[in-house]
Amino acid sequence: MPAKMRYDPGMPVPERPQPSTSPLRTAPDPVEEARRRLIVALDVPGQAAALALADRLERVCSWFKVGLELFTAAGPQVVQLLHARGHSVFLDLKFCDIPNTVAGAVRSAAALGARLLTVHALGGPAMLEAAQAALSGFSDPPQLLAVTLLTSMDQAQSRAVGLMRGPGAQVELLARMGLAAGLRGFVCSPREVAALRALTGPEGVLVVPGIRPAGGQSENSARDQKRIAAPADALRNGASYLVVGRPITQAPDPAAAAEAILEEMAAALCASHS
Ligand code: C5P
Repeated sequence: MPAKMRYDPGMPVPERPQPSTSPLRTAPDPVEEARRRLIVALDVPGQAAALALADRLERVCSWFKVGLELFTAAGPQVVQLLHARGHSVFLDLKFCDIPNTVAGAVRSAAALGARLLTVHALGGPAMLEAAQAALSGFSDPPQLLAVTLLTSMDQAQSRAVGLMRGPGAQVELLARMGLAAGLRGFVCSPREVAALRALTGPEGVLVVPGIRPAGGQSENSARDQKRIAAPADALRNGASYLVVGRPITQAPDPAAAAEAILEEMAAALCASHS
């Protein structure tokens, strides 16, 4: 695949008020482009902690991910409060249920104003089709993302639940199934992002967690994540967005940690433009 194609996220940028143009065509400031592509995971136990972190990161980051821990504790209001502060929200609840139930959940999530939201690809093709169809009534729908395989799942973890293929082949199988069901967005680990970019082409929206800054890659910094990579590598391999949690949120100075990651991202984006 030509190098340019890999770098071009070509995303129907779900963030507001972005126009749906490719960053390569608009040639933005690389740090600004990096900022548009960094999502901070607010994995904290409640609304006060989440908003305090968002406020500390206000000048540095524009995207925040609300996941299971925060949503379960704080409810939909936290999405609306982040919105009211001008942030874009990735609602990562990884829906996996019967098609009718997931369709309803997707409608509720879209009505909250989330710009990215997740379902589990393991829910199967009928569930994915129902999830995508549920967004047809929205004039400005969020980007639906299918989670392929959790970045905490290595070969041993996958085999333990009967997925005998190995992570790479499993992710590819699920992504092909998602594409056939009409989805164009996927969550995958940095290890599989190049293969998924080849599969989706430039219009795929690939969201990549399991990111660890180049300076801090050790067993300790990886923690429960198994399939990790540095920000620059994930971007080089075709990621549209990077999701970073603990390397920012548990840093002594979260804004400084986020800025350092933005610098790493910007350097990679610069290299891709030259
Ligand atoms: O702290 P850390 O950077 O590991 O956080 C990664 C975030 O990405 C977590 O909120 C986790 O739920 C999420 N995620 C993931 N793997 C996926 C999908 C989402 O780690 N496949």
